[in-house]
Amino acid sequence: MEKFIVQGGKRLEGAVHINGAKNSVLPILAATLINAGENILHNCPDLRDVDSAIKILRYLGCRVERSGKTITVNSAGMDRWDIPHELMREMRSSVIFLGPIIARCGRARLSMPGGCELGPRPIDLHLGALSKLGVEISEERGEIVCRSGSMRGRDIILSFPSVGATENIMLAATACSGVTRIITAAREPEIYDLQQFLIKTGAAISGAGESEITVTGGKTRNDASHSIMPDRIEAATYLCAAAACGGSIMLEDAEPEHVGTMISSLAEAGCDIKIAGRRITIDSERPLGHIPPVRTMPFPGFPTDAQAQLMAAACVAQGSTLFLETIFENRFRHVGELVRMGADIRVSGRAAVVSGVERLHGAPVRCTDLRGGAALIIAALCAEGESEISDIYHVDRGYEHMEKTIASLGGRIRRI
Ligand code: UD1
Repeated sequence: MEKFIVQGGKRLEGAVHINGAKNSVLPILAATLINAGENILHNCPDLRDVDSAIKILRYLGCRVERSGKTITVNSAGMDRWDIPHELMREMRSSVIFLGPIIARCGRARLSMPGGCELGPRPIDLHLGALSKLGVEISEERGEIVCRSGSMRGRDIILSFPSVGATENIMLAATACSGVTRIITAAREPEIYDLQQFLIKTGAAISGAGESEITVTGGKTRNDASHSIMPDRIEAATYLCAAAACGGSIMLEDAEPEHVGTMISSLAEAGCDIKIAGRRITIDSERPLGHIPPVRTMPFPGFPTDAQAQLMAAACVAQGSTLFLETIFENRFRHVGELVRMGADIRVSGRAAVVSGVERLHGAPVRCTDLRGGAALIIAALCAEGESEISDIYHVDRGYEHMEKTIASLGGRIRRI
């Protein structure tokens, strides 16, 4: 099992190129199924979850080639509509294949998805919406079996703006007759990126980025070429690292509008943050000032995917910071590990209060999930002494060669 060894206490200096977004490339890879044609995707990050999605596409009969940051998917030869359990369990987001497989084949069979352990991650909103569009759904031996006769568009009102459910409905609706309106749709930038890709395949779709999305079903037969948007969570993570360690870093190829809540939290804590086009620079001196309360919310609110990383910075900030996690239960699993490094954190239900300490100390810790793992790396980088971070496969699911990026900023980290 690989581990990271981190020697803390170094300021971070330098430039970071922000990669394509994990949460955008995964649904877009799934969406390549629907046009039965050639799809060229640029700016794809090199991540374990991307490898898993490629395995699924190949299993389904697609031809997939990868050259650097470009992935070409030819979905013309798709000849399966099932995903075996071993492939499904590699990543939670594999459920995003459900909508496109149904759209393409009129049926699908897959087991319940795997992924981060963030408490129960039901897919009732996905299944409820698909059934409203005319998909018959049953459960057979732990597998979800879907059949659709004729799928008809209609209004789908989501009780919560689920990102995955919104994406699955958009994808399935491309094969419905008539118009589907998704009301209370998720507004995340990745949904907009998916829409832009779908438009290139010939889909009639509008409204992404707002809470109502309209899809007019019809032929999506165009070959498509698309460049994946920058990863806002990767950008947020490196901003937190610089804030926690002190230093001066520049993020290149970022989308500043997508990290507005993180920028304002860190600016209030005294970081000097400047934006110039797609560049964000942060200058931070230790100790970090007081971080105001954080409440995770659907976009444009503070992202749950950046909560753990900001909490790592809050561990060495002045005063106390309240974190309220409203999206996922069980998303404080990193807290116990941060406490092993000397953090002062009290958790009560979905609230955590972090009282800043002067310094953390290195310790052997274990990644509990993807973003929690990133938080431990940030904490280890600003701690005194050596940390050994295990179970780093979580981090590799969502960060491209994180240790190389951090080392290029002067952080002392190595993979063993
Ligand atoms: C996506 C992101 C993930 C991010 C999350 C919230 C991808 C690949 N993953 O996950 O990184 O943390 O958005 O921004 O894009 N829910 C239900 N029933 C459902 C679906 C969701 O109750 O059918 C609940 C979930 O349990 C959770 C909340 O809704 O409490 C948010 O989930 P959702 O927005 O669907 O997240 P994901 O699409 O899984």
